[in-house]
Amino acid sequence: MRFGYFDDRNREYVITQPDTPLPWINYLGCQAYFGIVSNTAGGYSFYRDARLRRLTRYRYNNAPFDFGGRYVYLRDRESGQFWSPSWQPTRRELEKYSCRHGMGYTVIGSTSNGIEAHTRYFVPLDENLEVWQLTVTNRRQTKARISAFSSIEFCLWDAQDDATNFQRNFNTGQVEVEEGVIYHKTEYRERRDHFAYFACSEPLAGFDTQRESFLGRYRGWDSPAAVEAGQLTNSIAHGWAPMGAHQVTLDLEPGETQQIVFLLGYHENPVDEKFDPPGSQTINKKLVKPTIAKYLDAAKADAAFERLRQYWDSLLGIFHVNTPDIHTNRMVNIWNAYQCMATFNMSRSASFYESGIGRGLGFRDSNQDLLGFVHMAPARARERILDLAATQLPTGGAYHQYQPLTKRGNNDIGGGFNDDPHWLIVGVSAYLKETGDWSILEEPVPYDNKPGSEQPLYEHLQRSFSYTLARLGPHGLPLIGRADWNDCLNLNCFSDTPGQSFQTTTNKDGKVAESVFIAGLFVHAGRELAAIASRRGLAAEASHYIGETEKMLMVIREHGWDGEWFLRAYDDFGAKIGSKDCEEGKIFIESNGFCVLAGIGLEDGTALKAMDATGKHLATKHGIVVQQPAYSRYYLNLGEISSYPPGYKENAGIFCHVNPWVMIAETRLGRGDRAHDYYSRINPSAREEIGELHRCEPYVYAQMIAGKDAPTFGEAKNSWLTGTAAWNYYAIAQWILGIRTTLDGLEIAPVIPTNWPGFSATRIFRGVTYKISIERQGEGNRIALTVDGKPIEGNVVTPPTDGRKEVTVKGILS
Ligand code: GLC
Ligand code: GLC
Repeated sequence: MRFGYFDDRNREYVITQPDTPLPWINYLGCQAYFGIVSNTAGGYSFYRDARLRRLTRYRYNNAPFDFGGRYVYLRDRESGQFWSPSWQPTRRELEKYSCRHGMGYTVIGSTSNGIEAHTRYFVPLDENLEVWQLTVTNRRQTKARISAFSSIEFCLWDAQDDATNFQRNFNTGQVEVEEGVIYHKTEYRERRDHFAYFACSEPLAGFDTQRESFLGRYRGWDSPAAVEAGQLTNSIAHGWAPMGAHQVTLDLEPGETQQIVFLLGYHENPVDEKFDPPGSQTINKKLVKPTIAKYLDAAKADAAFERLRQYWDSLLGIFHVNTPDIHTNRMVNIWNAYQCMATFNMSRSASFYESGIGRGLGFRDSNQDLLGFVHMAPARARERILDLAATQLPTGGAYHQYQPLTKRGNNDIGGGFNDDPHWLIVGVSAYLKETGDWSILEEPVPYDNKPGSEQPLYEHLQRSFSYTLARLGPHGLPLIGRADWNDCLNLNCFSDTPGQSFQTTTNKDGKVAESVFIAGLFVHAGRELAAIASRRGLAAEASHYIGETEKMLMVIREHGWDGEWFLRAYDDFGAKIGSKDCEEGKIFIESNGFCVLAGIGLEDGTALKAMDATGKHLATKHGIVVQQPAYSRYYLNLGEISSYPPGYKENAGIFCHVNPWVMIAETRLGRGDRAHDYYSRINPSAREEIGELHRCEPYVYAQMIAGKDAPTFGEAKNSWLTGTAAWNYYAIAQWILGIRTTLDGLEIAPVIPTNWPGFSATRIFRGVTYKISIERQGEGNRIALTVDGKPIEGNVVTPPTDGRKEVTVKGILS
């Protein structure tokens, strides 16, 4: 069953039923001011940091779901009936409800009682505000006398404190109302230089700023007393719960349309110009007023919306494909690319599943995210890389997370995740391949953000590599530390105390447990680093890296191979994990996927065996599970992985992030049918038909789909903020379609399904537009290329040296 449809031409997903299985959300903003918005107008806004600068309140895990939002109410002044065009919060029956989630904007509306109303929400580029354009049309035969109300509830900035510290919060709330603009200024009188504002383009028939006055005692947002009565109370909040609501009177002739613009924004004043007049306690509004006036003008708001559209046109124009599979096209061309930008902007901070107060930016996560967005935002990728590298520790290890506002490593969680440093090499390598900007390697970057410790970025990569060499275990495999990519394989934790963090509790000295996954990652990163070194003319250094990866390959062959697949790890007792000898958890996806992705075992047939075993034991119709058999009980020596019930999350869930490793591995074996089949099993668009089971948005990937051991097999969770976005994009674009960035140029190496007659693509790469078409003439993956009509040797198209800006590439597969 579907709850809407894709409108690919407009790059929108159109939801036609408000009570989707879960809130289906979208993001507003792409620079500093952000919001999440659900299909019923739920969600919240923040400036830069979802925890520390939250503008509006949202109630996670509420019943009903998804409460707190950008709500509009309409009230018929004759009948006294009122409703919300976005369904929530009144949940009255509506006609023609629709929610259009587009690129950086959402339009929600419906018709009720002959009144059609839609609100378009978006954040203009380069502004710290959001625009709501409410359009109301009278579809009746007679004149309509309507009141329109806006409403938001302010968060007192720190979302965690706001939800817990009531002995203080109930006293601090403050607002000002001037010329119809509601200013939220809690703590502005002391250490904050910022405030929020909520403005309206039309003359007001009333306003409210105190929640209780608006809602009435013991009433909820579904039936505010002031809306029911048809008159806001002009309340001024002193403590309790500051909010914003405007009331506008609309008298509409039959067929007449009127637009109201509401603005919700954030503004920072210079410290010495906070108050007006100076010495008073009144906000200086002079600096913000021009911005408010500008966007309250509907024509200017429209122009800003047009700019936003062009911004997305240009980003999504960088890579565009036309294949025989509609799901591939729409994910590559629209939604997967869009999701990659969301993961760049949000990391893992704010979604319907991430509360915005938990995790900051993850070292491994953000480095992997680069794979998905570096072509769309190379300058911002550069900045992100330098920020990440500055949280690296002198040992070459890294803070596992950092806070976006301070850019400092997060001490609560610290370091010691022994895969972390290698992802920096992977990220930097992707950046170099995309941009050819070798100067980044010379950038001075501190360790642990300590002034004076700056070294060229290149040295950070050297230390990343050495980190593992200094931390080898009894078999010569890398020690796992707190965890590797699988945060829940906690082999040094041994926690028997409820509530203890599996991530930070360490009861073992960490000198025994080893990871075959990190070994594969080390080989992969070592080869990337060797290529970078040799490009820089450092031949001896390059051969050192190759030498070390060769040694590691020997170790993997000897101690990392289980006969039919790669082992996963050795625990603190030196016992195997992910082996046929284990009772549960005999085979894991990560070591198999990643080793083969890295090319390990291609020469001796073990890669083929590993992928066949993965297909046989781990692949299901809904995707590939993490391991089998699932852990049926808690294992002290394994940690969090066995804390999840079988089939969920890391305990044999379908972790969509790692499925693409297997897709890429299959392309390395030349098996395009299998690669694309795995791709399709978790492709959200291809799962649209089973929306009732899948439950999450059909336009973005979810982190996890419940595995076959779960009673809810096939149900997705944790949509949007997941490494799944980048890896799937990378797998389909660079390995299945095979349009791959390399240090030298664009490699063309498709490994596509045998029944595809071919495909075409446009790729803008280092300033040149490549028009690529691939035609299949035989069933294999051999490719013959012509560039601007001339056959070339090999399959790497190097950037033109004669200033051509457009290049035509034709490939024949046989
Ligand atoms: C989450 C984390 C990621 C980790 C994965 C597997 O997605 O953000 O860092 O690799 O879980 O545990
Ligand atoms: C839990 C989750 C894992 C996530 C981690 C982040 O361990 O299972 O997916 O990476 O929390 O803290």
